[in-house]
Amino acid sequence: MGIPQPAFYIFKCEQSAPPGMPKPSCVTPDSAGLFQYAAKKLMMEGVMMTAPIVRTSCMNRCAQGPIMLIEPGHTMYVGLTEEKIDRIIAEHIIGGNVVSEYVIDDEFWDAPITPAEARKQFGK
Ligand code: FES
Repeated sequence: MGIPQPAFYIFKCEQSAPPGMPKPSCVTPDSAGLFQYAAKKLMMEGVMMTAPIVRTSCMNRCAQGPIMLIEPGHTMYVGLTEEKIDRIIAEHIIGGNVVSEYVIDDEFWDAPITPAEARKQFGK
């Protein structure tokens, strides 16, 4: 028997805006500890091996930050806090149910376009 694949990957945006830049970002002094908080929680719950958390840069939803994306499922959670992370790990990662009230609004997360469609928009 081989090493099992993860059931989930958790992508946490770790982008901060440069000093003085008037742009929202996922990592501010108030939210800087959320990645470590989530990683510790996943370890304490014994699920880190099957639901690893990965640091990413900007995913273009900065105004809704702090954000994290869970795959499979394309589930984008926004406005993260420690309390929200606790529920997401308990209900989504362990329980298998999306926490709908923390998911990004459809207006900011419309259906994906295929790479072929994207190429057409660039005249390719
Ligand atoms: S800074 Fe996190 S989505 Fe842009």
